[in-house]
Amino acid sequence: MDGLSPAPFDIAAIRADFPILASEYRGKKLVFLDSGASAQKPRQVIQAMVTCMESAYANVHRGAYHLSEQATADYEAARAAVARFINAPSEADIIFTANSTMAMNLVAHSFGRGMLKPGQAVIASEMEHHANLVPWQMLRDAHGTELRICRITDAGELDLGHLAELLADGRAGLVAITHMSNVLGTVTPAAQIARMAHEAGAKVLLDGSQAAVHRRVDVQAIDADFYAFTGHKLYGPTGIGVLYAKADLQRLMPPFLGGGDMIASVGLHHSIWAEPPAKFEAGTPAIIEAIGLHAAIRYVEAIGMAAIEAHERALVDHAMAVLPGIEGLRILGAAQDRGGVFAFALDNAHSHDLSTLLDRAGIAVRAGRHCAEPLHERLGAESGTCRASFGLYTTSAEIDYLAEALVSARRFFA
Ligand code: ALA
Repeated sequence: MDGLSPAPFDIAAIRADFPILASEYRGKKLVFLDSGASAQKPRQVIQAMVTCMESAYANVHRGAYHLSEQATADYEAARAAVARFINAPSEADIIFTANSTMAMNLVAHSFGRGMLKPGQAVIASEMEHHANLVPWQMLRDAHGTELRICRITDAGELDLGHLAELLADGRAGLVAITHMSNVLGTVTPAAQIARMAHEAGAKVLLDGSQAAVHRRVDVQAIDADFYAFTGHKLYGPTGIGVLYAKADLQRLMPPFLGGGDMIASVGLHHSIWAEPPAKFEAGTPAIIEAIGLHAAIRYVEAIGMAAIEAHERALVDHAMAVLPGIEGLRILGAAQDRGGVFAFALDNAHSHDLSTLLDRAGIAVRAGRHCAEPLHERLGAESGTCRASFGLYTTSAEIDYLAEALVSARRFFA
């Protein structure tokens, strides 16, 4: 195999690409249902990073020798792959960051402090991950912007009527909303949100940390101004994320971090910034991780995002057929359009106890509030939930196994 997985969707072949899925886990077969926190890595990604370190590694943008030029070309090829992956108009629109959190903080610091005026508002929602909420609280406290929170419905969908109300006075400068909830799986109507924001004179940021893994993202079709996602949930390495930001907007934004590579020239007292996207990539970047992310994108594209989406839709349908029937199980959210993320509580069992019990059966799920405390409060689940999240290697047999383990867990807690 040349590093690509076979099409059409062949779950056995795909699973064979992930070494960890074949290894024993505490004497059991690993049932990994925590891909929403971080996905496992196929050998194609692992090998690409090893090859880079063994035979193609040097710093980028800094050397005139061949190895450095080659590493620079590989690093920039990763950027081009990301641009194609989300249909960005140009590679200049792609800023490499450490993760989605840093991408959102970049927008808050640079666009927020540099281009929003005190008194203008940022609109987030009740279902945001902390990474798309805390930066706006910090911006409010430091800069005097207002933070407005858009409500969600009891089903866990964005209340678009409330969004319209929050936009009505024309004072919003940014709408920052998740494209897919990491707790509820709710997929938000990104293009509609962008249209509403633009009509009210606001820019839009989509947190695509979950969505970009499960669906084909087209930033031009959405007309996003900013779109953030991360490598490690996309079967790539940790330490690399992406901020899509329209290059024209980047030119107007002040830099976020200062240092090498983000400058065109430096004097002792003043400097001139580099053109986008270098302007926002100070210091030695995550070179090996960019190579790994490129391999991850090649991997999912070889399978096909449409095939991945179809597989995951079938998993969601299967989960909706087997999980709600379990006595005592409460599943958070009931959005019409949802991806493969299920947060649940079992009677009054504490989420940590439940996840420990599931772990004994070889099932890995996340427990707690999943970096979304306000959402748990909103839905009356203050003490937390367990969360099963699917990846392209998840099978319906694993969902059945989870269902059986939950039934046993209920007996155990009773
Ligand atoms: N943001 C990741 C999650 O939702 C860590 O689990």
